[in-house]
Amino acid sequence: MRSVIRLRLGLPGLLLALSLVLVFALPALAGHGAPAGDKTGILLVSFGTSVPEARVAFDEMDAAVKAAFPDVPVRWAFTSNIIREKLEREGLHTDSVPAALARMLDDGFTRVAAQSLHAIPGEEFNEKLLAVAGRFRGVGGFAALTIGLPLMTGDADMGAVAEALLAVAPKRAQGEALVVMGHGTHHPANIYYPALQWYLRQLDPLAFVGTVEGTPGLDYVLAGLKIAGAKKAVLMPLMSVAGDHARNDMAGDEEDSWKSVLTREGIAVRPVLHGLAEYPEFRALWLAHLRTAMDDLAHGGGK
Ligand code: CO
Repeated sequence: MRSVIRLRLGLPGLLLALSLVLVFALPALAGHGAPAGDKTGILLVSFGTSVPEARVAFDEMDAAVKAAFPDVPVRWAFTSNIIREKLEREGLHTDSVPAALARMLDDGFTRVAAQSLHAIPGEEFNEKLLAVAGRFRGVGGFAALTIGLPLMTGDADMGAVAEALLAVAPKRAQGEALVVMGHGTHHPANIYYPALQWYLRQLDPLAFVGTVEGTPGLDYVLAGLKIAGAKKAVLMPLMSVAGDHARNDMAGDEEDSWKSVLTREGIAVRPVLHGLAEYPEFRALWLAHLRTAMDDLAHGGGK
């Protein structure tokens, strides 16, 4: 009797039966496809900082994200290997992006929105977050993994960032300039710094953008201050945290710091040692990007 049935099914019938078993049984075994097993998480991704006092910016960002998404676990990753190694020697562990994502997979997260806290979509964002996230999608990865874009990504962000900078800057005296110091990069995304200068110029002719490692540099800022006849300037970091660059390159006492150079040129400076993530105006901009990434997760993006 059994052999008769087997004969009647034939090879195509057996293949069909086998594929039905695979289609229905495997997802159940892997724990996917069942909405009850869905677990959403947020990963906040920063370059990182080794300066303990600067970490207040991350604490405030963490609190703001948890307030905006109260039911979603929030985790962190730093993209800088040097910073993570330095912290590790001090007994503080922070994950890289691949380590954080692997741990989230291991902990049963199925949907993750990874929000970049970088200022621009440069090398850190593209190589250490976007490319890595791509390798976690699809086979063996998350059901969905979306990416929240950096602070300045595209035209729409630029006006908002220029306005927020002027809103959070300390009240300036008549003729006192505002100088914001970005990181700067050899990556093509460096173009966001001169772009920001254009947007700021529309709002305030005494607002200047410079970078530590890219264009425009301090020489451009100094020339602009001289042309404007500015004798005073507020200095602010254009970075999520007021870390090593803000404390040393911008406001340090070494003779090549921005503070020292401008002071020697007869410009009295007031350095502000607050990272952008310490201001609600900037947290709101990053949160808006995260909200987009969370919406993408809910609407089938990031697969
Ligand atoms: Co640097």
